[in-house]
Amino acid sequence: MTTTQADALVVVTVTVNGSVRTLRVPVHRTLLDGLRDELGLLGTKTCCAEGECGACTVLLDGQAVNACLVLCAETDGHEVTTIEGLSKDGLTDLQEEFLNAGAVQCGFCIPGQVVSAEYLLRTNPSPDEEEIREALSGNLCRCAGYQRIVSAVQATAARRCGGHD
Ligand code: FES
Ligand code: FES
Repeated sequence: MTTTQADALVVVTVTVNGSVRTLRVPVHRTLLDGLRDELGLLGTKTCCAEGECGACTVLLDGQAVNACLVLCAETDGHEVTTIEGLSKDGLTDLQEEFLNAGAVQCGFCIPGQVVSAEYLLRTNPSPDEEEIREALSGNLCRCAGYQRIVSAVQATAARRCGGHD
């Protein structure tokens, strides 16, 4: 990463959804704004912009984070996966189960919910209901579709543990 004093820009090299990208951004630009405004990845949603709602959840080196709380500069040399990266080969089994469960209402929170749930299932393939609710507690849904979201995660866990895709 290099910093340009004259205009207080930083040059960041980050792998996003498997592709190496170079961003030239103001030092205080958040990862959320970088993804949306610089890279056009609009699946990561802007809502509270202060770490309260989870709409902006992405994976940073495989860990679920709120992109509004991370600076682009902090991602230099790291790897980011957004909802577009998770589903680049089509809907994932998890996304299919969200649809099957009727968990998608207005849809605004869903990318963040899916990223958080994917992180959970990668780290805990057979979560119980309490663990699912805890893992998704940082992802707010204004449509209050929580039970259906939990059902979708449970169905995905069962599907994966059963050896199906
Ligand atoms: S927009 Fe990042 S947590 Fe709400
Ligand atoms: S589906 Fe509308 S906010 Fe969650």
